[in-house]
Amino acid sequence: MTDIQPSQRVTVRVPAKINLELAVGPRGDDGFHPLATVFHAVSLYDRITVTPAPDWSVTTVGPYADLVPDNQDNLAVRAAKLLASRAVELGAESQPGPVAVVMDKHIPVAAGMAGGSADAAGVLLACADLWDLALLREDLEPLAAELGSDVPFLLHGGNAVGTGRGDEVSPVLSRGEVHWVLWLSTDEGLSTPEVYAEFDRLHEGDEVPMPELSAELMTALRTMDPDAVGAALRNDLQAASISLQPRLAEVIDAGLELGARGALISGSGPTVAFVVASQAEALDLSMGLAARGPKGDIVRVTGPVAGATVVDSRGPGPSLGLA
Ligand code: C5P
Repeated sequence: MTDIQPSQRVTVRVPAKINLELAVGPRGDDGFHPLATVFHAVSLYDRITVTPAPDWSVTTVGPYADLVPDNQDNLAVRAAKLLASRAVELGAESQPGPVAVVMDKHIPVAAGMAGGSADAAGVLLACADLWDLALLREDLEPLAAELGSDVPFLLHGGNAVGTGRGDEVSPVLSRGEVHWVLWLSTDEGLSTPEVYAEFDRLHEGDEVPMPELSAELMTALRTMDPDAVGAALRNDLQAASISLQPRLAEVIDAGLELGARGALISGSGPTVAFVVASQAEALDLSMGLAARGPKGDIVRVTGPVAGATVVDSRGPGPSLGLA
């Protein structure tokens, strides 16, 4: 075991994601649905700090701290322990000891924005830096995929195509950025497995085809033109999310009537993402949605942004700032 050095500390910033397209195939024998998705990282961030400690622990702070379920804490600790168990084969001189994880939660919980996965990705990167592992981001990917379908993308950020369970990620070249207004539920979230189960129920008896991405979105991503992106948004889980929370249809209608260039539910929901053409339009839409309801938190973000990034590294060795 390494000696504990209390002055050591690494902080990582990790973004939320939305899915610009989410094509869902039939449930496989492994219980998962094959996906073809386009991930888009947006400027809503959690901050993860890891410090060597006598025991493994997680503390949550920030606006969504109280809503973090126990299993999200566990995912963060699982991420740290998983990397620790592989650290020696990944270049550490000795088996690393426990860490205390602090998660500063700004990404809403159970919202379809991969908040829990973001924290797991953040913990992996923070611990890799803390333990001076000479790694490339790609080296963390298999571990990320073991933790959850969205975790590999949150290491990458940007725009990326996800296949398999969403965990096989390849970057998409794009230019420019898009402004978004997000409507975040202040009531209940949605559970990802329950939304997939509702998808199965709605498609009972149907021949669900294998998922494929549209050429339209790929073209739109080249320029990030807001109208083109807006027209190409697609989410096969949307009907299932609306079936479980019918007011989401009202949110979408309200935003479109107020001038959004496009709208969709992010992932399994209930977050609704509206694309707009400028910061000014984002401000107008936020005020309109706040005045008109349904009630929710409204935030303005841009995308694409970088994935998990070390923002502060204090330790005996240099920061790796994994490329
Ligand atoms: O991988 P993750 O922990 O995000 O998955 C949570 C649950 O969501 C899975 O257990 C499964 O029920 C469902 N899921 C699915 N198909 C996927 C991803 C998730 O059915 N591609």
